[in-house]
Amino acid sequence: MEVVASRRGAVAAIGMHRPDKRNALTAAMYEALARAVREAQSDADVRVLLFHGERDAFTAGNDLRDFIARPPQDEDAPVFGFLRAVAGAAKPLVAAVNGPAVGIGTTLLLHCDLVYAGDDARFQLPFTRLGLVPEFASTYLLPLVAGHRLAAELLLLGEPFDAQRALEAGIVTRVVPAGDALAVAWEAAEKVAALPPASVLHTKALMKQAHRVAIGAQLAAEGEHFRRMLGEPAAREAFAAFLEKRAPDFRGV
Ligand code: COA
Repeated sequence: MEVVASRRGAVAAIGMHRPDKRNALTAAMYEALARAVREAQSDADVRVLLFHGERDAFTAGNDLRDFIARPPQDEDAPVFGFLRAVAGAAKPLVAAVNGPAVGIGTTLLLHCDLVYAGDDARFQLPFTRLGLVPEFASTYLLPLVAGHRLAAELLLLGEPFDAQRALEAGIVTRVVPAGDALAVAWEAAEKVAALPPASVLHTKALMKQAHRVAIGAQLAAEGEHFRRMLGEPAAREAFAAFLEKRAPDFRGV
């Protein structure tokens, strides 16, 4: 099982579990993740969702081999179903981050309400380095929370950054000692779950309301570029370089 669901009281936890590949996400995993989110959303006994990875990896992002073999063709592709399920989630989303949180491992956090990162967490938005554009409405949400200046550096250069920088960028709520991230996230999730659900749901909805339409439009616009660019020479060169464990050469693209 590469996506593991667990429950503690009114908190539903959704875990990514593919340790040998640093939790890189395949189409099958996106499908399982989207299903787990939708089930938690419709289960009246669940009040809060908690995303986590392994003790030493949140996720290395899209599985690049799987992307080459099964590129998402249209809006019905599992990855886009997951994006919509998370972006539209009414219940609070909490995340515990350890180790690498690459690509969607970082952009997912922009949709979470409470994010606890271990001081070992390593973030990266490598989309330009892959010949792609960012996804998950991160081209809208990151400038919103980080300001254009910092968002541009993180999104255009695509270099890895640490938990402190993620805190400055507004991507995480709090940085905690590496071994504590999951326990702190559970504690926060349980505290929120113990509060009156109507107050919690309306508070989240009110905070998100002004951005709902813009996020939907950005998801669609990014998705269009992303799908097209997956087949173009720059992405093909980046993927080949990853498979061949070499630096990409973008001179001819
Ligand atoms: N897709 C497919 N396989 C991946 C992967 C990904 N995104 N990320 C890691 N893996 C695989 C590696 O190929 C390796 O497999 P192998 O043991 O069969 O060679 C295994 O997972 C372990 O990865 P490794 O690079 O040795 O781990 P690390 O701890 O040194 O580095 C990362 C971790 C996440 C920093 C590094 O793997 C990485 O940069 N991955 C690519 C991230 C990326 O570009 N994601 C796409 C976002 S859109």
